[in-house]
Amino acid sequence: MMRARPGPLHPLLTGEREYPFVTLDQRRRALLPRGTRAINFGMGDPRERTPEFIRETLRGAVPETSSYPSAFGQGELRAACARWLERRFGVRADPERHVLSANGAKEAVFSLALALVDRGSRDPRDRVVIPTPAYPVYESGARFAGAQPYFSPLSSEDGWRFDPRRVPDDVWSRTALLWLGSPHNPTGAVLELPALARVLETAKRFGFWVAADEAYCEVYFENRRPHSMLELGFENVIALHTLSKRSAMTGFRSGFMAGDERLIAALKRFRPNLGTATPDFVQAAAIAAWNDDAHPGEQRGRYARKRAAMLEYFATRGWSVEASEASFYLWMKVPDGDDAAFVDRLLRVGIIALPGSFLGKGGEGFVRWALVPTPEDCALAIARLEAVTA
Ligand SMILES: Cc1ncc(COP(=O)(O)O)c(C=O)c1O
Repeated sequence: MMRARPGPLHPLLTGEREYPFVTLDQRRRALLPRGTRAINFGMGDPRERTPEFIRETLRGAVPETSSYPSAFGQGELRAACARWLERRFGVRADPERHVLSANGAKEAVFSLALALVDRGSRDPRDRVVIPTPAYPVYESGARFAGAQPYFSPLSSEDGWRFDPRRVPDDVWSRTALLWLGSPHNPTGAVLELPALARVLETAKRFGFWVAADEAYCEVYFENRRPHSMLELGFENVIALHTLSKRSAMTGFRSGFMAGDERLIAALKRFRPNLGTATPDFVQAAAIAAWNDDAHPGEQRGRYARKRAAMLEYFATRGWSVEASEASFYLWMKVPDGDDAAFVDRLLRVGIIALPGSFLGKGGEGFVRWALVPTPEDCALAIARLEAVTA
């Protein structure tokens, strides 16, 4: 019988490259001792409880008759997001012109380049600038959109802070979009307003969009609250926010974008095509979450205690961390510089962490610890670490 010939696949799906967590999972299956429950510092998926009032709101909002939700988000949700922006950053956004709902930040990250990148014209804008190491979806979104990523490695010498002067003018003049995370994943570095202003000035001069990924802006310590790019104005900026980390709601899939009304207007034409409209009962829970500022404070307290315990232990081993100013990540320097080998040694004692090199150039020699396990599991991990040589 004739063998069925398969249809074509996108070349990005048939190549060698894997999402970093797929690679990490393969290492885990190879190295984790049989019967050992792994303590997972690898993925930034909080093991904190979603506050009961948020879960209750969701349960109460499931309707008898279901309808398609609005692709832009309910007016009430956008208003709640705008009120939070004002309370948190002193920024005034108009819910109609400046705010759009998203199913968590990830789908917005992935699809943004698709809406912006122009490859066809005589003066193409087909570059997406990504400071690395970085959240991997910046790159995959760029590549699936047919854009060319330009990687600008961050470094210890620069305090892991992006400096737009490190990118050549001829790259900026072809750039559609820059990804800027503050607090940054994986380093936890925070950009202060003068550094954000330098980036924005470059964006306005060359004419590109700055996607300010502020997913971790609510996870900070000792009252050092990270700023938003929106504090410098809305022009050329789109900021991304999510309830995933702020409210331990990764499974709800809810976030929003806020920024330049010219871009929001274009996204209102683009996004109804995606099928990513947030379900109305999730939006109801999201309104409750954005309206409350008490629970993120309690989460911060828990992260601060775990962070103090891990840092204290690292210090006894002589393991130093860099950046790590905010977010729930610790960016640890590996004593002998081989991050993948260090993570393999962790796996052998039942601990998962992420090699910095898995997140792009510049990450070599560092390991990212996501402080998401419970305090009890952090204590257990510290006991297991005693057996790790370094
Ligand atoms: C930097 C950064 N941006 C965006 C996201 C996406 O978050 P979510 O889709 O859960 O809102 C993540 C998730 O880990 C992240 O680390």
